[in-house]
Amino acid sequence: MSNRLAGKVCIITGTGGSMGREAALAFAREGALVVGCGLYADDAQATVDAVRTAGGTMVSLHPCDLTRPADCGALVDLAVRTFGRLDVLFNNAAMAYFNWIEDISDDEWDRNRREEVDLVFYLARAAWPHLKASRGVIVNTASLNALMSFKNLGSLGVIETNQTREQLKNPEWAGYMLGKTSVDLDGPRKWRTSLFLASDDSSYVTGVDIVVDGGMKVW
Ligand SMILES: NC(=O)c1ccc[n+]([C@@H]2O[C@H](COP(=O)([O-])OP(=O)(O)OC[C@H]3O[C@@H](n4cnc5c(N)ncnc54)[C@H](O)[C@@H]3O)[C@@H](O)[C@H]2O)c1
Repeated sequence: MSNRLAGKVCIITGTGGSMGREAALAFAREGALVVGCGLYADDAQATVDAVRTAGGTMVSLHPCDLTRPADCGALVDLAVRTFGRLDVLFNNAAMAYFNWIEDISDDEWDRNRREEVDLVFYLARAAWPHLKASRGVIVNTASLNALMSFKNLGSLGVIETNQTREQLKNPEWAGYMLGKTSVDLDGPRKWRTSLFLASDDSSYVTGVDIVVDGGMKVW
């Protein structure tokens, strides 16, 4: 542990999910005071338990639906009430509903807008005064789909999580996607970018998109 985030109050969203849980553990290992949230209380509480068992500090708001501005406000309040400040907002939670443009329904489009975009905006707006006061950081998770297309669409990327596990059972889909990855992304390497962006090491880095894809984009 290098304590790169020692004393930093970090909101991480979707900590009941796969990458959110790993991020909470990784940030806490670096000394962060983690504030998590999740749609589902059981998953989110399990992450709090895992972080505390590992010796880290974490509180969490769950259930918490970030498509509701009031829940976003409550999450920021929890951070500031508990730890007195806010240094990092890591927008990890989201849910995408993929479909071809001629087939996508109004409902699917509306859900994509709410669960991919609105939730980031509402929480950033609620957190902004505190981030401004601390000269803090926002780290957003996105998808490689923002930069390129995959012929099998339906794809969120290639890290095995709750969101991709079912698709990875399809040998054709898995073969194509995994075949495009030239670097094994398992383990802590995939967290180094978010830890770097959340830490003072990146204090002169602003407004960048960093592709963390194990080579998918260039292969
Ligand atoms: N797994 C991949 O290969 C991959 C690729 C590209 C992008 N992503 C993105 O990575 C992030 C993490 O996803 P994951 O793969 O760990 O999936 P996951 O389903 O395990 O985790 C996502 C978490 O976000 C939470 N969430 C979703 N909508 C929410 C809402 N409205 N309010 C509160 N919480 C909400 C879910 O409950 C879940 O716990 C997501 O933004 C996802 O789109 C993942």
